[in-house]
Amino acid sequence: MRAETKRLILRPWEDRDLDPFFALNSDPDVMRFFPAPFTRDETAAYMARVASFAETGFGFQAVEEKASGDLVGVVGMAPVKPEMPSAPAVEIGWRLAKHHWGKGYASEAANGWLVYGFETMALPEILAFTFVGNQPSRRVMERLGMTRDPADDFEHPGIAAGHKLRAHVLYRLKSDAFRQRAARG
Ligand SMILES: CC(C)(COP(=O)(O)OP(=O)(O)OC[C@H]1O[C@@H](n2cnc3c(N)ncnc32)[C@H](O)[C@@H]1OP(=O)(O)O)[C@@H](O)C(=O)NCCC(=O)NCCS
Repeated sequence: MRAETKRLILRPWEDRDLDPFFALNSDPDVMRFFPAPFTRDETAAYMARVASFAETGFGFQAVEEKASGDLVGVVGMAPVKPEMPSAPAVEIGWRLAKHHWGKGYASEAANGWLVYGFETMALPEILAFTFVGNQPSRRVMERLGMTRDPADDFEHPGIAAGHKLRAHVLYRLKSDAFRQRAARG
């Protein structure tokens, strides 16, 4: 998908994104809530893998700053993996370069994806989940109007039992709630 928000361009990956995306994926601060940073090869493989989601209309794609052409990070939506307790569903996610935190870019890009998900794809609901201690990401979910029911909290099946990042919270946003919020402005 291709879209523009006030300050950002949401677009598929391009070859020029590899260097700045690898820089982001290997920054220990950006990756502190992930089991491990990505190598350059893993970054390239991720870009190729998520690009294939494009056939379904989904993808974790590039976010570019309009003013500078700089790669801000990755934001997008994808089907929840079948082994997750919330599947089948669609999730939204984000990860930005550190020098682009604190500007509202994650929320702005995510809102562009929510418009696409609810208006173009007519999804009934979009989910987001993160490690319970990832407050910046939880704040983005709350800023978007997503809500958490503690009954949905879960242990991430892809993370080993006993690992400190295993406890996850789940946030939900239904299309009606999104529309009501958009109407209020
Ligand atoms: C999670 C992450 C994307 C959040 O980034 P962020 O910049 O805090 O989030 P937003 O883009 O919504 O920006 C909101 C912040 O910008 C500030 N801001 C500045 N100008 C703004 C504007 N015009 N509009 C909105 N917010 C603005 C807000 O006050 C807020 O700061 P605060 O949280 O200190 O109150 C970022 O911390 C990150 O990449 N983390 C590492 C990767 C990660 O953990 N990803 C999630 C995995 S589930």
